[in-house]
Amino acid sequence: MVQTIKIGHSDVASIKLGLGTNKVGGHNLFPGLEDEDGYDLVQEALSDGISLLDTAYVYGLGKSEEIIGDVLQKNDRQKVIVASKAAQDPKDNLKLNNKPAFLKQAVDDALKRLKTDYIDIFYIHFPDDQTDKAEAVAALADEKKAGKIRAVGVSNFSLDQVKEANVDGQVDIVEDNYSLLHRGAEKDLLPYLKANGISFVPYFPLASGLLTGKYTAADAGKFDQFSAEQFDRIIKALDQVRQIADKKQATVAQVMIAWYMADPDVSVVIPGARKAEQVKSNAAALSIDISDKEFKTIDQLFAGF
Ligand SMILES: NC(=O)c1ccc[n+]([C@@H]2O[C@H](COP(=O)([O-])OP(=O)(O)OC[C@H]3O[C@@H](n4cnc5c(N)ncnc54)[C@H](OP(=O)(O)O)[C@@H]3O)[C@@H](O)[C@H]2O)c1
Repeated sequence: MVQTIKIGHSDVASIKLGLGTNKVGGHNLFPGLEDEDGYDLVQEALSDGISLLDTAYVYGLGKSEEIIGDVLQKNDRQKVIVASKAAQDPKDNLKLNNKPAFLKQAVDDALKRLKTDYIDIFYIHFPDDQTDKAEAVAALADEKKAGKIRAVGVSNFSLDQVKEANVDGQVDIVEDNYSLLHRGAEKDLLPYLKANGISFVPYFPLASGLLTGKYTAADAGKFDQFSAEQFDRIIKALDQVRQIADKKQATVAQVMIAWYMADPDVSVVIPGARKAEQVKSNAAALSIDISDKEFKTIDQLFAGF
C-alpha cells in the first residue's frame, strides 16, 4: 500500500513520490529540450499514479508552468498536487525578490500560467538579501488564507533563515539540495524541521543522474564536485546497490528512489526526468520495498558525503 503523508500544517496530502519538472520547458537551463517531451513526461507521471508536480517560474521563465497548466486541463485537477516557486523578478533581470507585493503578484501570475484557481504548494524559491523572512512568509500565509495556495514553502534557505521565516509557525514545507551524495541537511536542518512539523522535499535526489547508476568510472570528469577518490567510491557503492536491485529485478534508480521513500525524514522525493520512459521506469519504484537492512546498507555505502 502506497503511503500518504500530510504537508506541514496544511491539508495537502501526497504520496511520497513526485516529479521534478525543471526539464519540462526549462530551455533556459538545459539546451536541446523539446516541449513535446515535456508534455509527454508530465502526462506519463499522472498516468502512472504520481500526483505531485514540482515546477517553478524560472524553469523556462513560465514555460514549465504553462505546459503543466495545459496537461492539467486534460486531467482531474483535484488529484494533482501542483508545487511552484518564485523569487526571480522578471522585471529586474531575475534579481531575487522576496518582497510581499512581489510574492503576491508572483502567485497571481503562476495561477494564470497554470490555468488553475489554486496552487497546492508555493515556495519562495531563493532568499533575497533584504526582506525580513517572516514578512515574506506572512505574504504567502495571506495567500493561503485567501485560498490561492494551500501550503507555504521556502527553498534554499539556510537553517537560520528557515527559523526566521518560521517565527510565527507559518512554514509548511522546505525544499533543499539533499541526496545520498549531499547529506549536509542531516545534521541540523532535518532535526529542526522534524521538531517543528515541517515537511521536507530534497532536490537533486538522483544527483543529476549520477545515482541512477548509468555512469561509469570513465565519467569522472562530468562530476567535478567530487574528487577522483570520491568518484571511485561512488561507482563502487553503486555496484553494491546494483546487486540489491538485481535481486528485486529493479534498476539502481528505482532502488534509490525507493530508499528516499523509505526515509522518514523525506516527505516527497521528486526525481526529474528528460523523457517519459524515465518517468515510467522511476514510477515503478512505487512497488519496490526496501527492508530495514537494505535501507541501512545503502545509508552506510554513502556515509560521509
Ligand atoms: N528548489 C530548487 O532550487 C531546485 C533546484 C534544482 C532542482 N529542483 C527540483 O528538483 C527536481 C529534481 O532535481 P533534478 O531533476 O535537477 O535532478 P535529479 O532528480 O537528481 O536527476 C534527474 C535527472 O536524472 C536523469 N534521470 C532521471 N531518471 C532517470 C532514469 N530512470 N534513467 C536514467 N537517467 C535518469 C535525467 O537526466 P538526463 O537524462 O539528462 O541524464 C533527469 O533529468 C527538479 O526537476 C526540480 O523540480 C529544485
